[in-house]
Amino acid sequence: MGYQNIIVEKKGRVGLITLNRPKALNALCDALVQELGQALNDFEGDAHIGAIVITGSEKAFAAGADIKEMKDRSFVDVYLSDFITKGWERVAQCRKPVIAAVAGYALGGGCELAMMCDVILAADTARFGQPEITLGVLPGAGGTQRLTRLVGKAKAMEMCLSGRMMDAAEAERSGLVSRVLPAEQLMDEAMKLADRIASMSAPAVLMVKESVNRAYETTLAEGLHFERRLFHAAFATEDQKEGMAAFVEKRQPDFKDR
Ligand code: HXC
Repeated sequence: MGYQNIIVEKKGRVGLITLNRPKALNALCDALVQELGQALNDFEGDAHIGAIVITGSEKAFAAGADIKEMKDRSFVDVYLSDFITKGWERVAQCRKPVIAAVAGYALGGGCELAMMCDVILAADTARFGQPEITLGVLPGAGGTQRLTRLVGKAKAMEMCLSGRMMDAAEAERSGLVSRVLPAEQLMDEAMKLADRIASMSAPAVLMVKESVNRAYETTLAEGLHFERRLFHAAFATEDQKEGMAAFVEKRQPDFKDR
């Protein structure tokens, strides 16, 4: 498929998606979100791909949903088409690990998109915010929900009510991002992390992702039960035998994703 708004590349076992609407600071128009969904479908269906990285430009990961495209829509229009959730949720539903490599602005839908990913790595230039309130609306793709779970009520309320942005250091302190890196090292580190994940046993990787995500969906007791069942199931894989044998034999494991 020829993409107009994103660049899609395979780098070894890593699928790299670069948001590419530089003139609009990667504003997430419908066409871009559709293309993103298509690229994720393709990577998910490709057994060779073990992890995915989504990134933007130096200036902006994404400055939000496309305001120009959205401004004249009516209630009935956005309600009937279930505007935004359909395409966007594709990112959150991806079974393979997705890393957001964020430099510059991650605002509104851009911040929400980053939070749908499994890990956020931030350049020291990154700025996160939910400025929808300044447009007379509110976040519509998880901003009030995921941000609150990630940084707690006080900060999420302040950011969503005032539109105040967080810089990278505050985002790391608050638990929104896993690491802050000098901007020039961001992509190297993101690709290194994705490569490392892709080198692990694919069934084990998917089980980890499912299990960590359960922590957000259920009680501790249910989550622990779910984790233990998956842990038991991992013993049905050839990769468990290989991984443990390799440790005992003091060699690198050769996982077959089986
Ligand atoms: C459409 C956008 C845009 C957006 C920037 N642009 N953000 N176009 N939608 N979200 C366009 C500008 O109109 C401008 O186009 C060009 O990108 C460069 O932007 P500038 O504003 O000139 O750049 P700068 O002065 O550096 O300011 C950067 C900025 C600012 C602080 C990020 O652009 C900004 O505040 N953008 C809007 C952020 C925002 O409110 N996001 C939330 C959107 S609502 P021209 O043609 O003039 O050169 C949302 C709801 C999500 O995300 C709901 C569910 C998904």
